[in-house]
Amino acid sequence: MSYQTRRLYFLAMSLPSSSTARQFRQTLMDWYAQSHRPMPWKGIKNPYLIWLSEIILQQTRVEQGWAYFERFRENFPTVKHLAEAEEDVVMKLWEGLGYYSRARNLHATAKYIAFDLKEEFPKTYESLLRLKGVGPYTAAAIGSFAYDLPVAVVDGNVYRVLSRYFGITTPIDSTLGKKEFAALAQELLDKNQAGRYNQAIIDFGATQCKPKRPNCPQCPMQEGCVAYHDDQVNSLPIKSKKIKRKTRYFNYLVINAANQVLLQKRNQKDIWQNLYEFPLIESEQLLQRSALKETKSWQEWSFLQSAGITRQAGPFKQQLTHQTIIANFWEIQLSSSLKPEAFAFLAVPRKSLRKYAFPRIIDLYLQDKSLYLELL
Ligand code: ADE
Repeated sequence: MSYQTRRLYFLAMSLPSSSTARQFRQTLMDWYAQSHRPMPWKGIKNPYLIWLSEIILQQTRVEQGWAYFERFRENFPTVKHLAEAEEDVVMKLWEGLGYYSRARNLHATAKYIAFDLKEEFPKTYESLLRLKGVGPYTAAAIGSFAYDLPVAVVDGNVYRVLSRYFGITTPIDSTLGKKEFAALAQELLDKNQAGRYNQAIIDFGATQCKPKRPNCPQCPMQEGCVAYHDDQVNSLPIKSKKIKRKTRYFNYLVINAANQVLLQKRNQKDIWQNLYEFPLIESEQLLQRSALKETKSWQEWSFLQSAGITRQAGPFKQQLTHQTIIANFWEIQLSSSLKPEAFAFLAVPRKSLRKYAFPRIIDLYLQDKSLYLELL
């Protein structure tokens, strides 16, 4: 939806008076003037770096995102550097952030901008929106921070601040809610300093009007805040749907022979595309050692038949948006050097394991201090 369209929605709905809007805007900007938190991407006008920071921040909190941003900026100071990087290098830098399709989109978009657009970053809201991995929020963030385009950001912070301040009970994940909040956000936006206003409302939501234990006692917005007066702060915003998660059980085989470990790259249309992992047996439930050896995969891998399990590590857990992954790691020592059929996998020297980008759950396992794999 373009921001002009948002305005039309606004006209059709009951929205705050212009003086209420002015008061909201003014109080927010006064708060921001005093509560400014320095961050490496703030005040930057370079759209590439802003885009980079926003894609990272879609994925993690400011504290963690900060280091990732610095590392990406150092390795890829321009969009061309990122475009020309090897995919594995990008994945390795992204490691730990999760949701790897974002990293792939980041890389694909860098190539598109560097090669197809001849390094000319899109400058309008609509053209930003056409970039892979860039939705209405990110397009508004880049547009306003880099070019001061008068487009309001609407993210989790904004939903929270607006639903509380204006006492809006429309579910934020409903079609109506999305339209209503987008229109309200657009109306409140300070069009003369759109970038600064957007940054202010994000920061206000992140540090003052937080999801849990917001700082209401010392809030400059308190006087006009509907939720505060109605004691509804903890019930807003409202979401209609609960995320349904399925649980999956992974048995990773950490197969050692000589000084090598077997890995494979995940290529399926599934989670963690293009990341590396150990040979995997997925099961319907958590398996004991004997049940693992009964599985079809174990039986099929002939090189395992004479192998012994030396240790089990786990279960480890990783929470994804729509899935819970429970993984056990079965350490296996092959007595002789690797048999040929094992080479459907990559045989990697133990010392080189750190070069590969793994899902977080494998990193957790590799960091386990009791692990006998010598990584250094
Ligand atoms: N989260 C997403 N974008 C952000 C930004 N620009 N500043 C702080 N937190 C953010």
